[in-house]
Amino acid sequence: MAEAPSTAQRYARFARYEARGASEVYEQWCEEISRDAKVLELIDGLPRVKRQPNLVLAAARSRGAEAGTYSGFRAFLLQDWDGIRDVILRRSTQTNEPRRCAVLLPSLARIARDEGRPLALIEVGASAGLCLYPDRYAYRYDDGAVINGQGRDNWVLACRTTGNPPLPSSVPNIIHRSGVDLNPLDPADPADLAWLDALIWPGMDERRRLLGVAAEAAAHSPARIVRGDLNAEIAGLIEAAPAEAAVVVFHTAVLAYLPEGDREIFRDTIFSCLGVPGRPVHWLSNEGLGVMPGLSAPPGSADPGLFVLHHNGTPVARTGPHGQSLDWL
Ligand SMILES: C[S@@+](CC[C@H](N)C(=O)[O-])C[C@H]1O[C@@H](n2cnc3c(N)ncnc32)[C@H](O)[C@@H]1O
Repeated sequence: MAEAPSTAQRYARFARYEARGASEVYEQWCEEISRDAKVLELIDGLPRVKRQPNLVLAAARSRGAEAGTYSGFRAFLLQDWDGIRDVILRRSTQTNEPRRCAVLLPSLARIARDEGRPLALIEVGASAGLCLYPDRYAYRYDDGAVINGQGRDNWVLACRTTGNPPLPSSVPNIIHRSGVDLNPLDPADPADLAWLDALIWPGMDERRRLLGVAAEAAAHSPARIVRGDLNAEIAGLIEAAPAEAAVVVFHTAVLAYLPEGDREIFRDTIFSCLGVPGRPVHWLSNEGLGVMPGLSAPPGSADPGLFVLHHNGTPVARTGPHGQSLDWL
């Protein structure tokens, strides 16, 4: 088995493959952290699952670390470490990115059309559930016409594409939404919203504004998100979906947080639900390359920071991790 990367390597990789081109501040901070023995020692004092850049940096920012130079950030971190550590231990990475709906929409619309039924969405690892409303946003793929949703604000999610994805002309009809999370966040709770805000990287102001709009809409008619482990809850959630709907179980940026054995259990459970006569169930997995064991990788090589979208276990696209791009295969 390959050796787990050191904390320095994790921060260097995060700088290079995730933050570069997305957040200059995080790129610089993570580069510097990867060479800073004192800060690495503090991070290495945390439980292994709590050492991720996203979590550590969001905790520091939630405590007031300003998006500026590394020296300013470092001084704040060293001085406030006990408070920051407390947030790291209490919270987890629950970034909820509604823009990911843009990479799911073509597949959702295709499932609704092929099945000739409305959809019942079930999201595992739903956080505050902001991806459970793909019909409430509007979409613009490249320079194409806007595809309108049914939301009040109709916030437009922009997405670059290659490979000619099957773009729909309208959003599908969704009659049921539910989900599961270890710790469902409440889109109406100011403390939860502040944490979601801290998880957005510096410089990504558009994402911050979208969070406000999406959370307000979700708070207005919250989906039912049960508290628990996805493997314990998934069968019951499928069972509870309305019989007239095609069920779509989906997840984005979730499975990497599970031990590999639990990912395998989830995969096998979902496979056993597909193809049951009279009960259409589909599975959309939008995760980092290689995160879901046993699923084939897309052909060719690409930026290792991209996610892979699988439909019922078959790769259909590479996607930008925040929903910013869709490269159809
Ligand atoms: C990075 S967030 C992604 C949220 C959302 N899917 C999105 O794309 O915006 C990962 C979420 O998965 C949840 N999660 C992690 N492990 C889980 C498990 N075993 N069962 C249920 N939820 C889990 C976390 O609590 C967190 O809310």
